[in-house]
This record gives sequence, C-alpha cells and structure tokens, in this order.
Amino acid sequence: MKPGCPIGTDLSRASELLRNGGVVALGTETVYGLGASREHPKAIARVFEVKNRPTFDPLIVHIAESEQAGDITQSFPPMAQILANAFWPGPLTLVLPKRDYVPDLVTAGRPTVAIRIPGAEPTRELLRAAGVPIAAPSANPFGRISPTTARHVADQLGGQIDYIYDCGPCAVGIESTVLDITSGTPWLLRPGGVNLEDIEEVIGPVQRFHGVEKGAQRAPGMLTKHYAPRTMLRITAEPTANARRIGVLSFGSVEDANKFASVEVLSPTRDLTEAAANFFAALRRLDEAGLDEIQATPFPAAGVGRALNDRLRRAAALES
Ligand code: TXA
Ligand code: MG
Repeated sequence: MKPGCPIGTDLSRASELLRNGGVVALGTETVYGLGASREHPKAIARVFEVKNRPTFDPLIVHIAESEQAGDITQSFPPMAQILANAFWPGPLTLVLPKRDYVPDLVTAGRPTVAIRIPGAEPTRELLRAAGVPIAAPSANPFGRISPTTARHVADQLGGQIDYIYDCGPCAVGIESTVLDITSGTPWLLRPGGVNLEDIEEVIGPVQRFHGVEKGAQRAPGMLTKHYAPRTMLRITAEPTANARRIGVLSFGSVEDANKFASVEVLSPTRDLTEAAANFFAALRRLDEAGLDEIQATPFPAAGVGRALNDRLRRAAALES
C-alpha cells in the first residue's frame, strides 16, 4: 500500500472528511464505494479523477433515510415508494428525475439521478453523521474488479484518497440492481443484489434491454468490458486443464481440482447468495496468481445468478 491512506472505523474522522470535501472510501452491503459530499463539486471531480472514470458516466447518490429523497428527486412517485418500502435499505438503486440541488457532475449532465439507501448499518451511520447525501461509484479503477474489502480498495487506490472507512467484507458482494422508473414503465439498467423476480412480484413486469445500443443510451455505465481482470477470462461449463497455468472460478465444487494451477469454489453447496458474496474477491485472487487463463463456469440464470452471469460476461469481453 502506498503511504497516506489510513484505514479504520473512526466515524467522526470519516464524516468530518466527507463534510469538509474529502474523498472517503466506504463499505456498503454490495461493494465498497468512493464517496464525496454532493456539496463539494471539487471532491466529486476528484472521485472521477481517482477512478479514471469518464465524466459521461453518472454516480449513485447514497442517502440514510428515504425522506432525503425529496431533496434529490423532483418527485417520489407511488412506484418509487412501493419499491423503497420493499427493498430499502438494500441493494436497489432507483433512477428518477433530478432536482437542481444535485450537481450536473454527479448525473453527467442528465436530467435524472440514481439514488439508494445502503443496507449495511455502518454505512448508514456514516451517512447520518456526515449529514449530506454522498455520491459514490464503486471504489475501483474504472472497468476493473470491484472491491469487497477495505484492503482491496487500499491495494487499488491507496495513496490517492483521504480515508478508507472499514465496514468489513461486503455481505452481498455484487453491486445494486439499477432500475429506471422515470416513466410509467420500469426498465432494468443493471441486474444486481435485488433479484428481478422479487421486484416483479412487487411492481409487475420490468423491461429489459435486448441490444447494446439502446441500453447504452439509457445506462451509460453499462459498457461491454467491465469488472475485468488483467488475466484473460473465458466462460465454460467444463474447465479443461492443459499445459498452461489455468485457474478455475467455479460456482460449485470442481472435479480433478489438482489438475489446475488454482481453483476458487464460490459455493460448495451451490448457493447463489454465498457465491455472490465471494465472487469479486475470488476473481481478484485468481487475477493475482500469475495464471495464463481463468476459466469461469456460468451460474444458473435465476435470482442473483443473472447478475453474476452479467458480471462474468463483461469480465470476459474482449473489447469495450
Ligand atoms: O452497489 C452499488 O450500486 C455500488 C455501491 C457503492 O453503492 N455502486 C456502484 O456504482 O456500483 P457504479 O458507479 O460503479 O455504478 C453505478 C451505475 C453505473 O452503471 C451508472 O451508469 C448508473 O449506475 N447510473 C448512475 N446514475 C444514472 C442515471 N442518472 N441514469 C442511468 N444510469 C445511471
Ligand atoms: Mg462500478
């Protein structure tokens, strides 16, 4: 780790830094975020700079209580209220028309804003103590593997930020589901920690994009190549060993595991929730193991398995 990047659980230090325009990494239930106060545009600009994130890709605004949504969004329609009651605090992000209070830098000049109440209690405590909405993308360099521990953040961004507020390992382990409810028809912009099936049970059918172009207009962050290790990653139902150093990222247990240079079993009992919690950390360990290739097995296309398959496809994409 580079010097100058303290990690800790000092709530007053973290909240003071945020209030005074610092950039603070904070754990949530999904992944670690890189936070800046919505009242400090310079700090928000620094978040883009540290991540090397293109400014056309807007940030999620994190709030502690749903009453704060009124300051940020022009309205909070009945569908938003129903979703908030069902899934907040938790891994669901809602996209709604924004108020002027939200700087254009946060929303990449869009008339809409993405908001959520994170599910982890330490994160909400920090948001309450800071007393301002916090804009935060995932705390990884743009396009790379998302961090699920404070150490992951330190390894990738240490030295460039002011503090890492350690909230322990992320329990969900995969980013929030992003849902656009600016019109009467809800659109899924990103599958994530809240299952589509559970959302549809509450509000009925949700539209999904089939075709990259239309999706890219609505969801600027959904570039094909994302969440990517440096090692070549291939998706295959049956990992095969050869002369090269092959690592396996497997949903369940692996036959002949000793044939491979390195094996990560995400859930021996094939439990999707457990697999999601382990996913990014396991991918990161494989990426650091000096392998020639990572072979990853796909997940069942249900529940959080959809979100995991989405991350795998983007991690495997050869071009952006
Ligand atoms: O779980 C999460 O969502 C984590 C934690 C830290 O909260 N955050 C996260 O942020 O994953 P980020 O920046 O890596 O992903 C946010 C996604 C991007 O794909 C972005 O394009 C989309 O949300 N987004 C943000 N504002 C939007 C808007 N106004 N319209 C459409 N998409 C938006
Ligand atoms: Mg991200």
